[in-house]
Amino acid sequence: QVDRAIRPKMLADYIGQPHVREQMEIFIGAAKARAEALDHCLIFGPPGLGKTTLANIIANEMGVSLKSTSGPVLEKAGDLAAIMTNLDAGDVLFIDEIHRLSPMIEEVLYPAMEDYQLDIMIGEGPAARSIKLDLPPFTLIGATTRAGLLTSPLRDRFGIVQRLEFYSLADLTHIVTRSASLMGVGIEALGAEEVARRARGTPRIANRLLRRVRDYAEVKADGVVTADVADKALNMLNVDALGFDHMDRRLLMALVDKFGGGPVGVDSLAAAISEERDTIEDVLEPYLIQQGYLMRTPRGRVATQKVYDHFGLTAPASMKQDA
Ligand code: ADE
Repeated sequence: QVDRAIRPKMLADYIGQPHVREQMEIFIGAAKARAEALDHCLIFGPPGLGKTTLANIIANEMGVSLKSTSGPVLEKAGDLAAIMTNLDAGDVLFIDEIHRLSPMIEEVLYPAMEDYQLDIMIGEGPAARSIKLDLPPFTLIGATTRAGLLTSPLRDRFGIVQRLEFYSLADLTHIVTRSASLMGVGIEALGAEEVARRARGTPRIANRLLRRVRDYAEVKADGVVTADVADKALNMLNVDALGFDHMDRRLLMALVDKFGGGPVGVDSLAAAISEERDTIEDVLEPYLIQQGYLMRTPRGRVATQKVYDHFGLTAPASMKQDA
């Protein structure tokens, strides 16, 4: 994958998320000084903010290898046992989308996390028996979009819990500048800032937009990403001045046009734009809420005044009292 070359490998190269960096430096430093495996880590936050990157950095900083799997891939207890019995002392086991583990697998995970013990059934019927295996000390790193999706017994077994936040404009500009330099793209400071401003606070989006803006700069200009080149390229890509893409606008417009600005339940909203409820909750909403365009209320989703301002619309009279 193209992303690999530009992903930071050590904490020192990891930009932004200052609280995460500061804490992880201490926890990793302490575990290394005691020659212990790092405690199990849960990393949560919206897609594209660097959960997988952070897991890889943790393994690199600990000087261990990382074995990777994901919740939906682990179907049988044996799938998990196969990976776990392959771990060396101190290794990281990374489980992406850990909220999608089957309950059976979760049961196997508990003693593995607490006592480094694997407790599995082999065979079926009268010949079935349970075997116990000792595992080396290891670090489980689980990633999920929302911590609330985990069962509480699973959540409680993580000694370290880190929440990734959307990146500030300054941090994202720094990331775009770094990526451009690694990709050999000529970019001006204001060009980097324009890409960052329109990347929804998300490094994965910023790096993707940077590649398309580079294409545009090479074909339509002299190859250097200036603010003007970035603006034109992003307009062509239908990324608006706030960084909202086609899907964001569809959601906000449906909320305004079809539901009078809300409140409306997420399922009705999902049906109106033919989108999965999960995609709305995990991918679209978090940024719109963080930026103050959307509110989650007990009666459903509500568009704020900012939505009407952004689209040049007049808010319904009923909204004025709340505003
Ligand atoms: N690429 C993706 N996330 C990053 C981060 N936090 N710092 C630097 N580069 C990144």
